[in-house]
Amino acid sequence: MARTATPRSTAKSGSRVTRSSPVASGKAAAKSAAPSKASSLPARDAGSNRLDTPSDFAPEAVLAISDALKVALADTFALYVKTKNFHWHMSGSHFRDYHLMLDEQSEQIYASTDELAERARKIGGTTLRSIGHIARLSAIKDNDAEYVAPEDMLRELVNDNKTLIRSLRKAHAVADEHDDCATTSLLENFIDTAERRTWFLFEAARTPDRDGR
Ligand SMILES: [Fe+2]
Repeated sequence: MARTATPRSTAKSGSRVTRSSPVASGKAAAKSAAPSKASSLPARDAGSNRLDTPSDFAPEAVLAISDALKVALADTFALYVKTKNFHWHMSGSHFRDYHLMLDEQSEQIYASTDELAERARKIGGTTLRSIGHIARLSAIKDNDAEYVAPEDMLRELVNDNKTLIRSLRKAHAVADEHDDCATTSLLENFIDTAERRTWFLFEAARTPDRDGR
């Protein structure tokens, strides 16, 4: 949950100031005059300097990578909700297979959310803060129809997974540009699992030809 930004003190974080003590105030003044390690940290995001996890990436790299990860995470959350919705509202003669497949896929998608969010935090960036933030960034199309035919659900999820793959690839390109191999490695796994989901959904939704294949 996001915290409300607190007014910033003139003292750098880490130095304790006892307002009632002149000795302590003197020490604080001396500390503020000397260049501290904290003061050398770049301000990346006004109001959230306390969230600047130290890393060797340039501030611009941290912003670019974490922004790309935010979009990928927004698409991931949206796809999770949509896959779970279709799992709950599945119907028809393939109910058991489709219901279980979508449950398995939704668990896989959900498991990637924490890793995407924490990757941004590990390098000193920030991540999604709200449901509104997800809605603003995600390119996954919403669907709150009362009834969706089973094969239509699968076909829609094929396209949604492809949308997610595109945002994962974009984030991969940004991370690669800044030599962030840990992020590219993480994203490669998520791209692979999204492509696997697309494959399974596509095959399950395929209309049999005259030979029944
Ligand atoms: Fe379930």
